Amino acid sequence: KTYGVVMAGGGGTRLWPLSTKKMPKQFLNLSGKETLVNEAVDRLLGVAGKEDIFIVTNASQTEVMLSQTAGRVRKDHILAEPAARNTAACIGYAAVTIVKKYGDGIMCVVPSDPYIREEAVFQDTLRGAVRAAEETDALVTIGIKPSFPSTGYGYIRSVEAEGKSYRRVEEFVEKPDEETAKAYLEAGCYAWNSGMFIWKASTILSYYKKLLPDIYDCLMQLAESFGTPREEEALWEIYPRIPKISVDYGIMERADHVLMLTGDFGWSDVGGWDAFDALKDRDQNQNLTVGKTLLLDSRNCTAYSVDKLIAAVGVSDLIIVQAREAVLVCPQSEAQRVKEIVEALSEKG
Ligand code: GDD
Ligand code: MG
Repeated sequence: KTYGVVMAGGGGTRLWPLSTKKMPKQFLNLSGKETLVNEAVDRLLGVAGKEDIFIVTNASQTEVMLSQTAGRVRKDHILAEPAARNTAACIGYAAVTIVKKYGDGIMCVVPSDPYIREEAVFQDTLRGAVRAAEETDALVTIGIKPSFPSTGYGYIRSVEAEGKSYRRVEEFVEKPDEETAKAYLEAGCYAWNSGMFIWKASTILSYYKKLLPDIYDCLMQLAESFGTPREEEALWEIYPRIPKISVDYGIMERADHVLMLTGDFGWSDVGGWDAFDALKDRDQNQNLTVGKTLLLDSRNCTAYSVDKLIAAVGVSDLIIVQAREAVLVCPQSEAQRVKEIVEALSEKG
């Protein structure tokens, strides 16, 4: 059996002020088609059955999630986390739920944030990854050809596996510094980690046991409560204690049997304002504008307005965003630092 698991509990802080705590980016319709979370679910159909798709989200977002995904995902398949404990917790929770409640199978874990242009190619690739995970019992990832030295992605070095559609992963490096990222790009043999993982639920649990034993203990405690009257209580008691680490640092960098398929389906992370190019083309001055904007004698700017006019003259390489009660201005090169603003604001309360 093949399951789909959508990770949708991130804050989307790098897309502030469009994405906010109350309305994080997974609930936004950035492409003009559907919200990101619904696009992620729809893409999984055809690989996993409609009844076999799970969404892991923060309990504070369950209500919005239920109303957005009504008719698409079973209500009891929306797994609500009492606290955000990063992706190792999120994936572990989904894996233990699948194994203990629904029966072991292949999990296709996908983030809710990428924008993907070619759905059919994506589904073909994912089916190939499912076959690889079935045949080899490995951890399977999907790699993307890198186009700039991003420090916001994981990098994967792999070698060909003769006669196979997958490659063998020799090294996985999560979010290298800029110098390293540049070297990887020049080396030409690294792919970006797309953040999609395909593996047998029981296999990933055995990696938790080996590499993240503290998380594994919490997961086993959760499992003990499954189907008992104290299941909900145990979740709220145990989950906030799960160590906070991403699956990339916690498992992928350290696992020994990892395979990669190359994904060529027009992937973009839309992780921050610097990645908006995936959704829209730039004009003749290399400006990318959405909404009411007037850019005179300006180059290489991204201007995104929700309901006020953004006007600028003689500027270059800037990101300017107006949404809700805020205006953001930052150089293109510092786009990843927008999350620092959100952190600073939440410290102020
Ligand atoms: N349910 C839940 N709970 N989901 C979470 C949590 C959590 O605590 N934390 C993050 N997520 C979700 C996010 O919503 C997103 O869909 C996905 O998990 C990945 O988290 P990000 O926070 O966006 O990770 P990243 O972008 O820094 O890095 C990952 O993705 C890159 C590609 O976009 C890594 O896998 C990198 O290696 C990869 O290159
Ligand atoms: Mg991301």
